[in-house]
Amino acid sequence: MLTIGVLASGRGSNFQSIINSIDSGALRAEVAVLITDNPDAYAIERAKKHGIEAIILKPKDFADRDAYYLRIAGELKKRGVELVVLAGFMRVVGKPLIKEFQNRIMNIHPALLPSFPGLHGQKQAVDYGVKLSGCTVHFVDEDVDTGPVIIQAEVPVYDDDTEDSLSERILKQEHIIFPYAIRLFSEGRISVEGRKVILKTKSS
Ligand code: GRF
Repeated sequence: MLTIGVLASGRGSNFQSIINSIDSGALRAEVAVLITDNPDAYAIERAKKHGIEAIILKPKDFADRDAYYLRIAGELKKRGVELVVLAGFMRVVGKPLIKEFQNRIMNIHPALLPSFPGLHGQKQAVDYGVKLSGCTVHFVDEDVDTGPVIIQAEVPVYDDDTEDSLSERILKQEHIIFPYAIRLFSEGRISVEGRKVILKTKSS
């Protein structure tokens, strides 16, 4: 069974979708730990409710970024984590963590990358006037939202959409594709060749 470590900074609805997917039997995995940088994150309540250990680590309590991410990597390794899931973790991940978990850190972004990286992907899409947007699950590399794309889901953008209405439509898809990407990983069906992710069918 796949051992997951989740990093989240806020409400944690993606974290919840992963928990739900495990509980329903769709995803054979266990969440060993939730690590958050935000003591007020609602994700902590979700962890408690499901008996998942939650650790709060604040960057300001560390000498520098490297020390912070070394500690996170240490906590994850200590618990045998095989896949790190960024579920609304609002920080650029530091090198020590990326080095330790090469192609084993997944993030969900609320736009069709490489369009609209960074913060407020949904607002960027509304402001630009695109007719389609969506969400992307990708592996994390050292830049912001640039790592190999695993899966994407598209949603329409309507003329009267606001950031909120589009966010809501995208979020529904996030809750489907994130657990699915983790499931593909858990079944050994993801391989990375350069910057391309190859998804194997069950029989191949
Ligand atoms: C989501 O929109 C996700 O795409 C982005 O951060 C948000 C997190 O939401 N990376 P939640 O905390 O999972 O509800």
